[in-house]
Amino acid sequence: MPGYLLHFRILTGEIKMWLCPLCGEGLNSNSAPWRCSNGHSFDMSRRGYVNLLPVHKKASKAPGDNKSMISARRCFHANCGFAPLMDRIAQLAVSLAPEGDVMLYDAGCGEGAYLAFVREAMVSTRRSVKAAGSDISKVAIDFAAKQVTAAQFVVASSFDLPVASDTADIILQIFAPGDDTELCRILRNDGTVIHVAPGENHLLSLKQVAYDIPRPHALPPDRRNGLKLLSRERLQFTLELVSVEHAMALINMTPFTWRFSEAQKQSLAQELNEAEGDFVISVWKKADK
Ligand SMILES: C[S@@+](CC[C@H](N)C(=O)[O-])C[C@H]1O[C@@H](n2cnc3c(N)ncnc32)[C@H](O)[C@@H]1O
Ligand SMILES: [Zn+2]
Repeated sequence: MPGYLLHFRILTGEIKMWLCPLCGEGLNSNSAPWRCSNGHSFDMSRRGYVNLLPVHKKASKAPGDNKSMISARRCFHANCGFAPLMDRIAQLAVSLAPEGDVMLYDAGCGEGAYLAFVREAMVSTRRSVKAAGSDISKVAIDFAAKQVTAAQFVVASSFDLPVASDTADIILQIFAPGDDTELCRILRNDGTVIHVAPGENHLLSLKQVAYDIPRPHALPPDRRNGLKLLSRERLQFTLELVSVEHAMALINMTPFTWRFSEAQKQSLAQELNEAEGDFVISVWKKADK
């Protein structure tokens, strides 16, 4: 089947985008609960997302980021903490997406701020965008589904995505783990993965407080299974922390949250007016077979 036809059929619901995590069959997601032809069913939560992470595939009771980290990230993004990064990702996504219908997927979407921003940017170019995201953290997906009602969300691992092959035009993978082969599988042949990782000096001054010997972040790999690197750029800017609450949000949304006591965090946040933002943005395509 030609690519455009396949794509059209996914968007019109004929081919099922979501897969049953128990048997791999397509899920009928047109009505709740979502069901596969083998009788497995998945309830829709009050917020409209579906949990596609079976208990036996969970490594812990509540995997992924916890509520405190997710609400800190929400507060940080609400104060436009990473605005230049969001702008650049959106610019890239818009320039790389096909005209017309676009399937945008955020793997490890957290509370959904990037998916919402990139979707808006794409919609403003008159494309018809189907946006979806997944995260292993149920609380993250709960936040995302509440905030970003124009997108569909599921709880799932990026190492075992319940998503049909050849589905996504643009995949966002932003500070989130994932399996190359899985991302490659759900990517359309001419699709793109936009990957963001911390650059070597990201939040260096916080690191200097937290560690005796602060080590720079390692560069992300320039080889990935099944993918080829199209471009890589470094984006650096100063994070302006507009209030103590904003500074606290930055501390609490990162692993620094585990390094300090509440009192230490409070006094650090009082002092912290800015921090180093340093990011590596890599664009990947499917490698030729
Ligand atoms: C640093 S946060 C980034 C979230 C979001 N992309 C952002 O930048 O705001 C990492 C996210 O990856 C999620 N995560 C961790 N392991 C995962 C996995 N195996 N599959 C899917 N998501 C995972 C966490 O729950 C968390 O929401
Ligand atoms: Zn099934």
